[in-house]
Amino acid sequence: MFATTPAGLSGVGRHRVPGAARWHRFATISPSDGPTSRRPGQENDPVRIRTGRDGDVELLLAFWGSAAHGTSVSDDAAGVAALLAHDPQAVLIAEVDGVVVGTLIAGWDGWRCHLYRLAVAPEHRRAGIARALLAAARERFLALGGRRIDAMVDDTNTQAHALYRAADYRSQPSWTRWVHPLGG
Ligand SMILES: CC(C)(COP(=O)(O)OP(=O)(O)OC[C@H]1O[C@@H](n2cnc3c(N)ncnc32)[C@H](O)[C@@H]1OP(=O)(O)O)[C@@H](O)C(=O)NCCC(=O)NCCS
Repeated sequence: MFATTPAGLSGVGRHRVPGAARWHRFATISPSDGPTSRRPGQENDPVRIRTGRDGDVELLLAFWGSAAHGTSVSDDAAGVAALLAHDPQAVLIAEVDGVVVGTLIAGWDGWRCHLYRLAVAPEHRRAGIARALLAAARERFLALGGRRIDAMVDDTNTQAHALYRAADYRSQPSWTRWVHPLGG
Protein backbone atom coordinates (compact mmCIF):
# COMPACT_ATOMS: atom_id res chain seq x y z
CA MET A 1 0.00 0.00 0.00
CA PHE A 2 1.28 3.42 -0.81
CA ALA A 3 0.34 6.63 0.87
CA THR A 4 1.58 10.16 0.68
CA THR A 5 1.76 12.55 3.57
CA PRO A 6 -0.83 15.31 3.23
CA ALA A 7 1.74 18.00 3.87
CA GLY A 8 3.83 18.87 0.94
CA LEU A 9 2.44 16.86 -1.92
CA SER A 10 -0.38 19.00 -3.14
CA GLY A 11 -2.78 16.98 -5.24
CA VAL A 12 -0.97 13.70 -4.67
CA GLY A 13 -3.27 11.03 -3.41
CA ARG A 14 -2.90 7.49 -2.33
CA HIS A 15 -1.08 5.12 -4.58
CA ARG A 16 -1.88 1.48 -4.53
CA VAL A 17 0.04 1.10 -5.92
CA PRO A 18 27.69 11.51 -15.35
CA GLY A 19 30.48 11.02 -16.01
CA ALA A 20 31.83 9.38 -19.10
CA ALA A 21 28.72 7.49 -20.13
CA ARG A 22 26.34 8.76 -22.77
CA TRP A 23 22.99 9.85 -21.48
CA HIS A 24 19.69 10.01 -23.26
CA ARG A 25 16.60 11.91 -22.46
CA PHE A 26 13.45 10.03 -21.58
CA ALA A 27 10.17 11.90 -21.77
CA THR A 28 6.55 11.08 -21.07
CA ILE A 29 4.51 10.90 -24.24
CA SER A 30 1.10 9.69 -23.18
CA PRO A 31 0.34 10.58 -19.58
CA SER A 32 -1.89 8.07 -17.91
CA ASP A 33 -3.61 7.98 -14.57
CA GLY A 34 -1.41 7.16 -11.62
CA PRO A 35 0.18 3.75 -11.97
CA THR A 36 -0.99 0.82 -9.98
CA SER A 37 1.50 -1.11 -7.97
CA ARG A 38 1.56 -3.81 -5.36
CA ARG A 39 3.51 -4.86 -2.31
CA PRO A 40 2.30 -8.40 -1.69
CA GLY A 41 2.24 -9.33 1.98
CA GLN A 42 3.44 -5.93 3.08
CA GLU A 43 0.16 -4.28 4.09
CA ASN A 44 1.56 -3.42 7.56
CA ASP A 45 4.45 -1.35 6.36
CA PRO A 46 3.00 1.17 3.92
CA VAL A 47 5.33 3.22 1.82
CA ARG A 48 4.78 6.90 2.44
CA ILE A 49 6.06 9.62 0.18
CA ARG A 50 6.93 12.92 1.80
CA THR A 51 8.74 16.03 0.65
CA GLY A 52 12.13 17.27 1.77
CA ARG A 53 13.11 19.00 5.03
CA ASP A 54 16.16 21.00 6.10
CA GLY A 55 17.50 18.09 8.14
CA ASP A 56 17.49 15.65 5.20
CA VAL A 57 20.94 16.53 3.83
CA GLU A 58 23.00 13.72 5.36
CA LEU A 59 20.17 11.22 5.10
CA LEU A 60 19.88 11.81 1.34
CA LEU A 61 23.62 11.67 0.73
CA ALA A 62 23.92 8.43 2.67
CA PHE A 63 20.96 6.90 0.82
CA TRP A 64 22.31 7.83 -2.60
CA GLY A 65 25.69 6.41 -1.61
CA SER A 66 24.09 3.00 -1.24
CA ALA A 67 21.19 3.07 -3.70
CA ALA A 68 21.75 5.54 -6.52
CA HIS A 69 23.26 4.89 -9.94
CA GLY A 70 26.62 6.64 -9.85
CA THR A 71 27.22 10.06 -8.40
CA SER A 72 25.94 13.49 -9.30
CA VAL A 73 27.85 16.74 -9.57
CA SER A 74 25.64 18.11 -6.77
CA ASP A 75 26.10 15.18 -4.35
CA ASP A 76 27.57 17.06 -1.42
CA ALA A 77 26.20 18.79 1.65
CA ALA A 78 26.25 22.23 0.05
CA GLY A 79 24.49 20.99 -3.07
CA VAL A 80 21.71 19.15 -1.25
CA ALA A 81 21.25 21.97 1.27
CA ALA A 82 20.85 24.42 -1.60
CA LEU A 83 18.17 22.25 -3.18
CA LEU A 84 16.27 21.84 0.10
CA ALA A 85 16.41 25.60 0.69
CA HIS A 86 15.36 26.40 -2.87
CA ASP A 87 12.50 23.93 -3.36
CA PRO A 88 11.96 21.28 -0.65
CA GLN A 89 8.75 20.21 -2.41
CA ALA A 90 10.86 18.95 -5.30
CA VAL A 91 12.46 16.34 -3.07
CA LEU A 92 10.27 13.24 -2.90
CA ILE A 93 11.28 10.72 -0.25
CA ALA A 94 9.64 7.31 0.07
CA GLU A 95 9.78 5.84 3.56
CA VAL A 96 8.76 2.61 5.29
CA ASP A 97 8.42 3.00 9.03
CA GLY A 98 10.38 6.23 8.85
CA VAL A 99 13.28 4.64 6.96
CA VAL A 100 14.14 5.97 3.52
CA VAL A 101 13.54 3.40 0.79
CA GLY A 102 13.44 5.63 -2.27
CA THR A 103 14.04 9.12 -3.59
CA LEU A 104 13.27 11.25 -6.59
CA ILE A 105 13.98 14.92 -7.24
CA ALA A 106 11.13 16.38 -9.27
CA GLY A 107 12.62 19.66 -10.42
CA TRP A 108 10.41 22.43 -11.78
CA ASP A 109 12.00 25.67 -12.94
CA GLY A 110 8.85 27.34 -14.24
CA TRP A 111 9.54 26.08 -17.75
CA ARG A 112 10.47 22.41 -17.70
CA CYS A 113 10.03 19.37 -15.50
CA HIS A 114 13.13 17.33 -14.90
CA LEU A 115 13.81 14.24 -12.80
CA TYR A 116 16.98 13.56 -10.86
CA ARG A 117 18.24 11.03 -8.29
CA LEU A 118 15.64 8.34 -8.75
CA ALA A 119 16.82 5.53 -6.50
CA VAL A 120 15.23 2.68 -4.54
CA ALA A 121 16.96 0.71 -1.80
CA PRO A 122 18.16 -2.62 -3.25
CA GLU A 123 16.11 -4.68 -0.77
CA HIS A 124 12.91 -2.83 -1.74
CA ARG A 125 13.19 -3.04 -5.52
CA ARG A 126 10.51 -4.46 -7.79
CA ALA A 127 7.80 -3.48 -5.31
CA GLY A 128 6.47 -0.48 -7.21
CA ILE A 129 8.28 2.23 -5.23
CA ALA A 130 9.87 3.87 -8.27
CA ARG A 131 6.51 3.84 -10.02
CA ALA A 132 4.92 5.51 -7.00
CA LEU A 133 7.65 8.17 -6.91
CA LEU A 134 7.20 8.83 -10.62
CA ALA A 135 3.45 9.11 -10.08
CA ALA A 136 3.97 11.63 -7.27
CA ALA A 137 6.32 13.65 -9.48
CA ARG A 138 3.81 13.57 -12.29
CA GLU A 139 1.06 14.90 -10.05
CA ARG A 140 3.34 17.68 -8.80
CA PHE A 141 4.24 18.71 -12.35
CA LEU A 142 0.63 18.62 -13.51
CA ALA A 143 -0.39 20.83 -10.58
CA LEU A 144 2.37 23.27 -11.49
CA GLY A 145 1.34 23.43 -15.14
CA GLY A 146 4.18 21.35 -16.54
CA ARG A 147 3.86 19.94 -20.04
CA ARG A 148 6.45 17.19 -20.28
CA ILE A 149 8.77 15.36 -17.94
CA ASP A 150 12.41 14.77 -18.85
CA ALA A 151 14.83 12.33 -17.27
CA MET A 152 18.49 11.89 -18.15
CA VAL A 153 19.30 8.19 -18.11
CA ASP A 154 22.67 6.53 -18.56
CA ASP A 155 22.67 4.49 -21.77
CA THR A 156 24.07 1.50 -19.87
CA ASN A 157 21.42 1.57 -17.13
CA THR A 158 19.10 -1.08 -18.50
CA GLN A 159 17.05 -1.41 -15.29
CA ALA A 160 16.22 2.29 -15.49
CA HIS A 161 15.31 1.91 -19.16
CA ALA A 162 12.91 -0.89 -18.25
CA LEU A 163 11.37 1.21 -15.49
CA TYR A 164 10.85 4.27 -17.67
CA ARG A 165 9.35 2.19 -20.46
CA ALA A 166 7.00 0.58 -17.96
CA ALA A 167 6.02 4.04 -16.70
CA ASP A 168 5.14 5.20 -20.23
CA TYR A 169 8.27 7.22 -20.99
CA ARG A 170 9.98 7.02 -24.37
CA SER A 171 13.64 7.53 -25.24
CA GLN A 172 14.67 10.35 -27.56
CA PRO A 173 18.02 9.04 -28.86
CA SER A 174 18.47 11.96 -31.25
CA TRP A 175 19.12 14.22 -28.25
CA THR A 176 22.41 14.22 -26.34
CA ARG A 177 23.29 16.08 -23.18
CA TRP A 178 25.88 18.88 -23.54
CA VAL A 179 27.48 20.09 -20.33
CA HIS A 180 29.63 22.99 -19.17
CA PRO A 181 31.06 22.60 -15.65
CA LEU A 182 30.88 25.63 -13.39
CA GLY A 183 33.75 26.20 -11.00
CA GLY A 184 36.36 23.64 -10.01
C1 LIG B 1 15.66 1.65 -11.49
C2 LIG B 1 15.03 1.60 -10.09
C3 LIG B 1 14.82 3.04 -9.60
C4 LIG B 1 13.68 0.88 -10.18
O1 LIG B 1 13.05 0.96 -8.90
P1 LIG B 1 11.93 -0.11 -8.44
O2 LIG B 1 11.22 0.45 -7.27
O3 LIG B 1 12.57 -1.44 -8.30
O4 LIG B 1 10.97 -0.11 -9.71
P2 LIG B 1 9.43 -0.60 -9.70
O5 LIG B 1 9.26 -1.69 -8.74
O6 LIG B 1 8.57 0.59 -9.54
O7 LIG B 1 9.32 -1.19 -11.16
C5 LIG B 1 8.26 -0.83 -12.03
C6 LIG B 1 8.45 -1.57 -13.33
O8 LIG B 1 9.66 -1.14 -13.98
C7 LIG B 1 10.28 -2.29 -14.61
N1 LIG B 1 11.53 -2.60 -13.91
C8 LIG B 1 12.02 -2.01 -12.81
N2 LIG B 1 13.22 -2.52 -12.48
C9 LIG B 1 13.50 -3.48 -13.40
C10 LIG B 1 14.60 -4.38 -13.58
N3 LIG B 1 15.67 -4.40 -12.77
N4 LIG B 1 14.54 -5.23 -14.63
C11 LIG B 1 13.48 -5.24 -15.46
N5 LIG B 1 12.40 -4.41 -15.33
C12 LIG B 1 12.42 -3.54 -14.32
C13 LIG B 1 9.30 -3.44 -14.46
O9 LIG B 1 8.40 -3.37 -15.56
C14 LIG B 1 8.57 -3.05 -13.17
O10 LIG B 1 7.29 -3.62 -13.07
P3 LIG B 1 7.13 -5.14 -12.48
O11 LIG B 1 7.96 -5.22 -11.23
O12 LIG B 1 5.67 -5.23 -12.26
O13 LIG B 1 7.66 -6.05 -13.56
C15 LIG B 1 15.91 0.80 -9.09
O14 LIG B 1 16.30 -0.42 -9.70
C16 LIG B 1 17.17 1.53 -8.67
O15 LIG B 1 17.14 2.30 -7.70
N6 LIG B 1 18.27 1.31 -9.40
C17 LIG B 1 19.56 2.01 -9.05
C18 LIG B 1 19.46 3.50 -9.27
C19 LIG B 1 19.05 3.81 -10.70
O16 LIG B 1 19.48 3.19 -11.66
N7 LIG B 1 18.19 4.85 -10.83
C20 LIG B 1 17.73 5.36 -12.10
C21 LIG B 1 18.59 6.51 -12.52
S1 LIG B 1 17.94 7.23 -14.03
